[in-house]
Amino acid sequence: MTEATAQATPSQVAAVFDLVAPGYDQEALRFFPFIADRLIAQLRPAAGDKLLDVACGTGAVAIAAAQAVGPGGRVTAIDLSEGMLARLQAKLTKFGVANVDLHVMDGGALEFRRDYFNHVVSSFGLFFLSDMSSALAQWRRVTRPGGTVMFTSFAPLAFTPMIDLLRARLVDAGVDMPPQELADSNECQALMTAAGLMDVNVKTEQMGYHLRNELEWWEIVWHSALRGPCERLAPAQLEEVRVAHLEEVACLRTDKGLWLNVETHFVRGRKPA
Ligand SMILES: C[S@@+](CC[C@H](N)C(=O)[O-])C[C@H]1O[C@@H](n2cnc3c(N)ncnc32)[C@H](O)[C@@H]1O
Repeated sequence: MTEATAQATPSQVAAVFDLVAPGYDQEALRFFPFIADRLIAQLRPAAGDKLLDVACGTGAVAIAAAQAVGPGGRVTAIDLSEGMLARLQAKLTKFGVANVDLHVMDGGALEFRRDYFNHVVSSFGLFFLSDMSSALAQWRRVTRPGGTVMFTSFAPLAFTPMIDLLRARLVDAGVDMPPQELADSNECQALMTAAGLMDVNVKTEQMGYHLRNELEWWEIVWHSALRGPCERLAPAQLEEVRVAHLEEVACLRTDKGLWLNVETHFVRGRKPA
């Protein structure tokens, strides 16, 4: 899922997410809020904590965190995409959530003071940053001594076999597809340790479910970072790729539907006290 933008500039990343923002909260993509809830359940922030959600998107983590820290706590949610932040703002208004602050900000260029947050978290955000080591060092800088830094990334089998089939089709059509980042749990662990975090722990969990059919799989492609490489094709060529791809994905359906593997790494570490 990171291919679309792994080597893109921040403004290209923001443009893709502005494009997908209106459809990002669809049922087919419910793994994002499932995983956000799981992240917050593992983190267990205390009432009154201050938490930074980097690459917050439409707020799956920020909203779960806002409930956990309660009215005496505060969540700061940052993202590059104004479209994603606008969706989050609409939800905060609709649900009357008053303890979340939003900022357009690059997760690799934080504008907060040292030791400010109890926790810094990012669900499926770190792999978009061109210098992940530098970003993690900044996340550590703004975390209080003894506080937690936590992120999620997709494990190697996530979205297989559909993602491999799509990738092959796009490569055949001439689209450059960089490799998936942060799928290797050892790499996740090493990055956290190199950033000066201690007690680093990676838990890998299956967060998948059955989609109804291949059209739901396309909803995921079309409303995620995978939209980026798709948009590089001319409309007629993209339609050919889509039809051929969905034909092969249809063959993977069973009587339960289409299995969506969402194997996820939950990576956490602690800033030394
Ligand atoms: C896959 S979405 C994840 C959103 C949310 N965390 C969730 O779990 O639903 C990735 C988000 O990262 C944001 N993003 C990518 N690069 C970023 C950067 N350098 N700084 C801040 N946000 C970034 C995108 O705009 C997008 O909203």
